[in-house]
Amino acid sequence: MLSLAIFVSGRGSNLRAVLESPKLKDLIKVEAVVGDKLYCPAFDTAKSFLIPVYSVGNKEGLISFDELKIILKKSGIDLIVLAGFLKLIPEDFVKAFQNRIINIHPALLPSFGGTGMYGMNVHKAVFESSAKVSGVSVHYVDETYDTGKIIAQRCVDISDVNSPEEIAERVLRIEHQLLSEVIEKIALGKVFVEKFRVRVET
Ligand code: GRF
Repeated sequence: MLSLAIFVSGRGSNLRAVLESPKLKDLIKVEAVVGDKLYCPAFDTAKSFLIPVYSVGNKEGLISFDELKIILKKSGIDLIVLAGFLKLIPEDFVKAFQNRIINIHPALLPSFGGTGMYGMNVHKAVFESSAKVSGVSVHYVDETYDTGKIIAQRCVDISDVNSPEEIAERVLRIEHQLLSEVIEKIALGKVFVEKFRVRVET
């Protein structure tokens, strides 16, 4: 059973998709949900599944990343999933969970990624670029935004869209599928980090 901590910042639809995924039911256990504020709607989902929540950051009332590291290590967390978490993960925290932190990004990296590229900013940039496809990327987390090795990607046709909101809607549906598929592959030991790329066995 793979022990997960899922990091969120907002509504938590990816968190819910993972918690409700039939293919993950017997493969994973979500031991913690972590946010960057004292409250976000995703915490309601966590609490409905009786999962402890933690709020991390350097503001009043939040725990530090160092404290969080100790908590997650004690919990035996095998994999950290960033699902909408907006803060940059400190370098020493990344190193403490080397190749055990993944992030889902709502575009086809390395395009449309990096600082400031989150939420509707991404879909607006894609819309205004005139791109005919967008998609989802799931990648390992390293010390900078959206630059870790890509584990999986999936495209979605946006040739007929009329707004960034339409892109967001189509991409989010794919996110919910791809994130669970990647977590399943990791839980089954089918993901291998190589020098430049990540090999995923069928
Ligand atoms: C998703 O679009 C994800 O790709 C991005 O942040 C959003 C989180 O949405 N990193 P939700 O909170 O999971 O609904």
